[in-house]
Amino acid sequence: ASTLGAAAAQSGRYFGTAIAAGRLGDSNYTTIANREFNMVTPENEMKPDATEPNRGQFNFSAGDRVYNWAVQNGKRVRGHTLAWHGQQPPWMQSLSGSSLRQAMIDHINGVMAHYKGKLYAWDVVNEAFADGSSGGRRDSNLQRTGNDWIEVAFRTARAADPSVKLCYNDYNIENWTWAKTQGVYNMVKDFKSRGVPIDCVGFQSHFNSGSAYNSNFRTTLQNFAALGVDVQITELDIQGASATTYAAVTNDCLAVPRCNGITVWGVRDQDSWRSGDTPLLFSGNNKKPAYDAVLNAL
Ligand code: XIL
Repeated sequence: ASTLGAAAAQSGRYFGTAIAAGRLGDSNYTTIANREFNMVTPENEMKPDATEPNRGQFNFSAGDRVYNWAVQNGKRVRGHTLAWHGQQPPWMQSLSGSSLRQAMIDHINGVMAHYKGKLYAWDVVNEAFADGSSGGRRDSNLQRTGNDWIEVAFRTARAADPSVKLCYNDYNIENWTWAKTQGVYNMVKDFKSRGVPIDCVGFQSHFNSGSAYNSNFRTTLQNFAALGVDVQITELDIQGASATTYAAVTNDCLAVPRCNGITVWGVRDQDSWRSGDTPLLFSGNNKKPAYDAVLNAL
């Protein structure tokens, strides 16, 4: 196969990218994105600040721009994200306790109703665990509503759209030896044992010098999959875009039957949220060595 999407499809997987609505007018961008990728994650357009700018008032204009571009071009879409401490609208940031808990539930219901039956997966909860050695939850306004906020989010999501895969998504959970990885693993194990609905875990995979790729990532993917969830690589970018590391990550996913696909967090280096790291597969219109390494691995 001669594109990432077609090559991934040879093993029943997808290859995706984050898409920014603001770049859809750039034909160099859309040409590459349309040719290479068959899964799309809206980079910012389905986050809480975008979809519910005022309480109870939903706005899907930017989310729908990305969604429609994807579907019109034959791609599937991953919703990102419903419950997160980041990119909350100001009104949500100022809530706490039971009113924030209710606002989270209403937000999940409102956004999921709009996209009901239309998405591949939802990142229901994003980045709820702490970095460092605790293995516990990150402090946030959502966490302070009670430790059960994550399972309430997943139960609400299942009732809102039974057709979509419900995922937990986080970073720094790729290295099996890290406390944060173990914390998320134990949560998923607990959810599975108690029947809390969860279908998948997304590994963001933002690799850099502080959070370096480690070859035990494959063990992590295998161990989570063995709990009975699908796993996906959801926001891959690698500082410096080492071809060897990109190939290793690709091979790790291919080695795990329940690893459904890989999404890179942007099309070209200039589109990256950390463009100074030149972490992606394209530079301008050009394929980088990491692109060839991934295509050959797939
Ligand atoms: C980033 C976007 O790429 C930026 O455009 C935005 O300013 C901040 O968020 N983890 C996530 C993503 O789950 O939503 C983040 O995306 C990157 C880290």
